[in-house]
Amino acid sequence: MCGIIGYVGKKRALPILLTGLSAMEYRGYDSAGVCVQASGLVRIRAAGKIEKLRERLPPAPLAGTAGIAHTRWATHGVPDEANAHPHMDCHEQVAIVHNGIIENYSELREGLKAKGHTFTSQTDSEVLAHLIESECEEASGLAAIRRALKRVRGTYGIVVIFKDIPQTLFAARMGSPLVIGVGAHEHYVASDPSAILAHTRDVIFLDDGELAAVSSEGVTLAGLDEQPVNKQVERVTWEVETAQKNGNPHFMLKEILEQSAVVENSTRGRIDLIGTRAVLGGLRDVSERLEEIDRIIIIGCGSAYYAGLVGEYLLEELTGIPVEVELGSEFRYRKPIISARTAVLAISQSGETADTLEAVREAKRKHALTLGLVNVVGSTVARETDAGVYNHAGPEIGVASTKAFLSQLSVLALMGVYLGALRGVLPEREAGAVLAALYEIPDQIQMILEGRARISQIVKRHAAMGNCLFLGRKYQAPIAYEGALKLKEVSYVHAEGYSCGEMKHGPIALIDTSFPSVVLCPLDSVFEKTRSNMEEIRARGGKIIAITTDHDAVSSLCEEVIIVPKTLECLQPLLTVIPTQILAYEMAVARGFDPDRPRNLAKSVTVE
Ligand code: F6R
Repeated sequence: MCGIIGYVGKKRALPILLTGLSAMEYRGYDSAGVCVQASGLVRIRAAGKIEKLRERLPPAPLAGTAGIAHTRWATHGVPDEANAHPHMDCHEQVAIVHNGIIENYSELREGLKAKGHTFTSQTDSEVLAHLIESECEEASGLAAIRRALKRVRGTYGIVVIFKDIPQTLFAARMGSPLVIGVGAHEHYVASDPSAILAHTRDVIFLDDGELAAVSSEGVTLAGLDEQPVNKQVERVTWEVETAQKNGNPHFMLKEILEQSAVVENSTRGRIDLIGTRAVLGGLRDVSERLEEIDRIIIIGCGSAYYAGLVGEYLLEELTGIPVEVELGSEFRYRKPIISARTAVLAISQSGETADTLEAVREAKRKHALTLGLVNVVGSTVARETDAGVYNHAGPEIGVASTKAFLSQLSVLALMGVYLGALRGVLPEREAGAVLAALYEIPDQIQMILEGRARISQIVKRHAAMGNCLFLGRKYQAPIAYEGALKLKEVSYVHAEGYSCGEMKHGPIALIDTSFPSVVLCPLDSVFEKTRSNMEEIRARGGKIIAITTDHDAVSSLCEEVIIVPKTLECLQPLLTVIPTQILAYEMAVARGFDPDRPRNLAKSVTVE
């Protein structure tokens, strides 16, 4: 996700800000910018790498000793210079850097425009600079920021600098991390401790609802509710690389553990206030065509394809539109029958997968409505499709997809509700039930993650396995395929994903006492049938690791039982997939492999 660094002290701010940005490069970004308090606020921004930003710096060094900087990973608006942070108000009185998403930015923006503000970017963040400046008519500094933030809905970690308040940074946090670094006659503010560890290990972590005024000599903390806040300075003992992984040994684990927040971010601002409608601004412009479509074809590769298979069930159930799912690499080599009433939905984390992209181009040639479900804003699939929805999962660094997959499922559920309502086939009550259940998912994910140590013990007992069969039925079949893919990718255990119904048509021949199965068997509409398949495995001496919602319903058939909370059948994959990711991760570690560097794999497959 985006990275923030701010500095105030006695040294020149610019070199410190640039080094801080470089330390956050691992997070992935598409543009960067700095703003230093010199004579006025001097801002320099550039699309692309930090090198591009360095090329834009004025020949004479900037003397200012207070400043803010940002690396952007786009969520609203294409990754260009105008959308890069810092953002400023029209009078260049206030500069801000922002991480997070302002949900009500369009209504705030319209109100400010009516008061004469002109906007220069497409971002939600710019509205904060204008809002704070407009509050300066009534208050100043921290008080103006507090007034502005009380009008904001969404998440933020912000650092603000005013033209007329020298040598002071202001920070505020709601849902997006910020840490203050404490030095001798100098302070830092960053979204990521790795940006400041080269300068200080003494830090104050801000919590949600807290604001800070930071000068070279001290830090004043306060609550959004105007209550005073007192905090101790803590000492960080992590090394930079550990800090980048948020204290975790691997990015894959970090990304698995942040999935609760990922689902929140993917759905944030996309459910109406009453909770019965999905609000997907990215599909608004094509809504008339969406009302007319008679078929959806979902395209993807690897995990994105498996997310599409879950999407097939979801979209058919919620919208009544026939859905097919195709591998990008196969779609274009046959002669797909497509009409102008076909919607082709490309799912891709990177938005650059060559096979998916070529399938989109083939669909466009045949006049289909093309849609993207993409994580990387401004990527080729995002640019070449007619419309789409971003995942908002943040950059995925682990090669094996985890959090992007979960965000794809979240958005597919929202798309189902959106299209079901658009076509008048999903009653408000049912839509409300799906959205209410989706709202519960982050807490339920957290419950599963808290049981990680148990899964790790299970893995240790089975670490010597040479093969593994993953089985699931209906909504759980794609999770079986995804679970098998994850295990083989990072732990090199040979794994097959099968739908339960197909087991008797072949794979059952493999089962013996040394060939274990992971069975996805929540108490859903097909549980009894799945249970029969487990009996069949048992009868052949096969060992079973069950992922279920009810211990007692399966424990007599299994060696190991992993429990996940129960939700609606159509959302259950968002929970059952988590233990499969943990199994794969822990298996890689138990077998001595680095899950962040699986052999032979690339994060983005840009060749066919
Ligand atoms: C599996 C994995 C890959 C990707 C596939 C598509 O863990 O990461 O299978 O899902 O290469 O990539 P994107 O989603 O970028 O199109």
